[in-house]
Amino acid sequence: MSDAVRETASDSGVRADARLYRRLLGYVAPHTAVFGLSIFGFLVYSAGNVLLADLIQFLLDSLGETTMGNLGLVARAAHWIWPPGDASTLDYARIAVPIAAVVLSLGRATGFFIGSYFMHVVARSVVHTIRTDLFDTLLRVPKAHYDRYTSGSLISKITFNVEQVSGAASEALKILLREGLTVIALVGYMLYLNWRLTLVFFAVAPAIGIVVSVVGRHFRRYSRRIQDSMGSVTQVSGETLGAFDTVRIYGAEQQQSERFHEASLFNRNQSLKLAFVQAVSTPVIQTLLAFALGALFWFALEPSILSGFSAGSLVAFITAAAQLGKPIRTLSGIQSVIQRGLAAAEDVFDQLDAQSEPDGGSLSLARSRGDIRLEQVGFHYPGTQRTALQDISLTLAAGETVALVGRSGSGKSTLVQLLLRFHQPSSGTIFLDDTAINDYRLADYRRQFAVVSQSIDMFSDSIRNNIAFGGLADASDDAIQRACQHAHADEFIDALPDGVDTVLGDGGGGLSGGQRQRLAIARALLKDAPVLILDEATSALDTESEAYIQNAIDTITCHRTTLIIAHRLATIERADRVVVLDGGRIVAQGPHRELLANNALYARLYQGGDLVETGDVSGGDSE
Ligand SMILES: Nc1ncnc2c1ncn2[C@@H]1O[C@H](COP(=O)(O)OP(=O)(O)O)[C@@H](O)[C@H]1O
Ligand SMILES: [Mg+2]
Repeated sequence: MSDAVRETASDSGVRADARLYRRLLGYVAPHTAVFGLSIFGFLVYSAGNVLLADLIQFLLDSLGETTMGNLGLVARAAHWIWPPGDASTLDYARIAVPIAAVVLSLGRATGFFIGSYFMHVVARSVVHTIRTDLFDTLLRVPKAHYDRYTSGSLISKITFNVEQVSGAASEALKILLREGLTVIALVGYMLYLNWRLTLVFFAVAPAIGIVVSVVGRHFRRYSRRIQDSMGSVTQVSGETLGAFDTVRIYGAEQQQSERFHEASLFNRNQSLKLAFVQAVSTPVIQTLLAFALGALFWFALEPSILSGFSAGSLVAFITAAAQLGKPIRTLSGIQSVIQRGLAAAEDVFDQLDAQSEPDGGSLSLARSRGDIRLEQVGFHYPGTQRTALQDISLTLAAGETVALVGRSGSGKSTLVQLLLRFHQPSSGTIFLDDTAINDYRLADYRRQFAVVSQSIDMFSDSIRNNIAFGGLADASDDAIQRACQHAHADEFIDALPDGVDTVLGDGGGGLSGGQRQRLAIARALLKDAPVLILDEATSALDTESEAYIQNAIDTITCHRTTLIIAHRLATIERADRVVVLDGGRIVAQGPHRELLANNALYARLYQGGDLVETGDVSGGDSE
């Protein structure tokens, strides 16, 4: 949702907030016992605070003569545990007050520890759950989701936004409980000592409430912007740092620096606005509180009210009232943390609600024959009007090798995307073994394909794990060894110091393009799927690597259906059939020789020497 939409929808905001709290609490539910322990700890802590105020009454009252009826809470407890017998009030207090002070402080300290630590246990578990849920959701969303968000903004949601939720869940919740319970306990104690007088204090509550709610709205708005700006910061830095060569060679340091500066500056400005509201709100609330305390003292010293107090209980009352300042200040200070957490939770939940890839099929499929048929398939990318594919009817018989050629942008890769169910055709149907592909369970269906494309994804892991990747993790050493041999990857792997256990750098760093390509082919070979797709798998290679890979391709194409998108003539000539794509339509298909004689576009592509990058081809009427 955009900022503007979210901000104007504030009337339904209360209900949305309620839903948000309930959903967050849903994450706390599995930790109810630990959460309860933490609340118990904070209860002990705030009771300790009150009883330490009460202890002052014990101390002061023991200076004069007191009757049992006027005794404070601590004094009464002390008398009950250890009856004074015939000791004088002063002698008794000299022993009882210090002991009570130490015991109460110890109790308060223990409560603090239990409350704080176990609150963190809950909060960190909640964050862990939300973070892994988010990651897992992003593993299942359709490919179009990644077109909508930049990878930087998604990463920033996993790192920054989730951490903001943790701020609200741990810090803020902890303070909310600790200080909130302290306020409740102190006010309760004051009500107990003199309820009429305490009501004065409630006169300012509505004013404080208004300030808190106005400030909260601002906090939320700035927090959303801060999150979005963290997305930009992550995106720009990731993009720029990943493109070291390009940035240096094109002298783009200054330009990228300015881009980053802008993203970071926006973040700073929004953070400052948030800090400004926070810095204003706390003193305003404190001032309101000061008025209330002033009124409280004024009434307290009124003779008729004063007469109802013992000296000790008056001091205890005033001590308790004065103690209210600190927790209330802290409470107003954490509102920004809470609002930041809520804004982040809103955004993270938005992502968590993203639909998974459509997987309506229920047919299971062990191993397909590899019969593929497209019937009048049309497609346009979501959010665009331009048709990327139109009226595609095509058959790939089991075991056949088909080359797909056409100028760049003619829709070759798009066709592959549809075959792999990364996108759904806008019209028409694709069949595998005479069954519509959407009828198969997605995981079963994808197992039928091995793909080697121009961009090779390698992970920072050992070569072995990069080849025996994902569903192939159980492959035997023998099988891996064989795949490497057939992909002509064994020689260079054996030359590496740790062989197949060599750990690759970021994205396969430390290997040449051709070596990475051969690893990708080994991976595809190991998968041994009935359908193989090579999307410009050899286009980035030099002649020597290509010779190797050509060999490897010959090995892997036999006995399986193969779709090859390539520029290289050698590859295309060996295909059983060539399909020429132009402007998203099939314009010709047939054996290489036949097409060369009969199809002008194909002849031109062929004579251009480069079947894909043919910017010099004249008479192209499709673009
Ligand atoms: N993710 C996308 N969103 C919108 N349009 C796209 C996307 N990917 C490709 N296209 C468009 O679809 C058309 C076909 O692209 P593509 O299949 O990649 O061509 P080829 O692989 O033949 O070079 C192009 O016009 C391209 O601009
Ligand atoms: Mg392509």
